[in-house]
Amino acid sequence: MNVVMNMISGAKGLTSLEGRIAVVDARHQIHTLHNVWWRDNCPCATCRHPLTRERLLFSAGIPADLRAVTASRNDDGSLYVTWADREGPHESRYSVAWLDEHGQDAFPAPLVPYGSTLWSAAEFELKRVPWRDLMQDDEALLAWSDAMIADGVAAITGTPGEHAEVERVAERLAHVRETAYDRLHEVRSEPDPYNVANTDVELMTHTDMPNYAQPPGVQLLHFIENAATGGETTLADGFAVARDIAQDSPEAFKVLCETPVSFRMTSQKADIVGTSRLVTLDSQGSIEMVRFSNQLMQPVRLPGSELTAFYDAYREYSRRMVSSDYVVRFRSEPGTVVTTHNHRVLHGRQAFDAMSGPRHLQLSYLDFDDVLSRRRILLEGRKAG
Ligand SMILES: [Fe+2]
Repeated sequence: MNVVMNMISGAKGLTSLEGRIAVVDARHQIHTLHNVWWRDNCPCATCRHPLTRERLLFSAGIPADLRAVTASRNDDGSLYVTWADREGPHESRYSVAWLDEHGQDAFPAPLVPYGSTLWSAAEFELKRVPWRDLMQDDEALLAWSDAMIADGVAAITGTPGEHAEVERVAERLAHVRETAYDRLHEVRSEPDPYNVANTDVELMTHTDMPNYAQPPGVQLLHFIENAATGGETTLADGFAVARDIAQDSPEAFKVLCETPVSFRMTSQKADIVGTSRLVTLDSQGSIEMVRFSNQLMQPVRLPGSELTAFYDAYREYSRRMVSSDYVVRFRSEPGTVVTTHNHRVLHGRQAFDAMSGPRHLQLSYLDFDDVLSRRRILLEGRKAG
């Protein structure tokens, strides 16, 4: 037996197994983790820099058969372990807060990421946050990020119709993600467009820039003027589409997750080509990203024998992505910034009559990592306050 048996009954208990330490959480679930994992994550000031919290311990130097000499729970609930390190005994203390955050082994991940509420067209409800609140009140910013995590979309209302206001909003939410195109994208009908967005034709629901290895995580679409007839905003939850295909047609879902597909976007100053999958799963098997852009997809390179299966899957995927079962349609009034999680929610617009009135939008992008970062900092601040 590697670890001293020390069973405490009830919540926050502890037990021991050969080469592993198990803790019981408040919901009485047992999490059994390997000694090397515990030792690697020792929070002490020798193993982690006390200020930066970066790891100082060299993980690969931990012997695979590391022995724990003692393991016990202190009265305050923290876990105390002594190790038989090669260089001599080492002590690790894991606080209750640390155990709550990290001391869990992975249960089978859900197909849909934690915290997200997938929606069909019938279930859609657009959450709105006033621009005035968002720009000065951190609680409003948290409400916006709550909506982005849950629904993948939110609207900011009452935004001043000034040039580049969308950039100021972007900087409030996170940092502008610059791409090879302009930092601030102008969308209006133009005589010589590089992109179908800058015409007045219908724009089928799509995700932006699937040609990037990491497409921008959030799109901000600021309606400065919208007096033209038509041009309603369309949105669809791509995760809902992917989940439904996984349930209804597992074979098609597999094809979408495995087939390499290329997208290409060009302008006078950029030519970006990227190959990825239409549906990307994370390392746990949860849906991480969908890509869909009928207009930017390139010829698929596959053995001829696989093309039928690919097109069967792609047909099902594409039809759902533009279907009224999934796509919602509404008019975005001037002053609205529609924000979408671009790895999940598709956007588009209906055709409009460019002669009937001005229609002018400005776009900016963020990375979702930065959105989550700002959220974590604000939540920490709320806890500390
Ligand atoms: Fe777009």
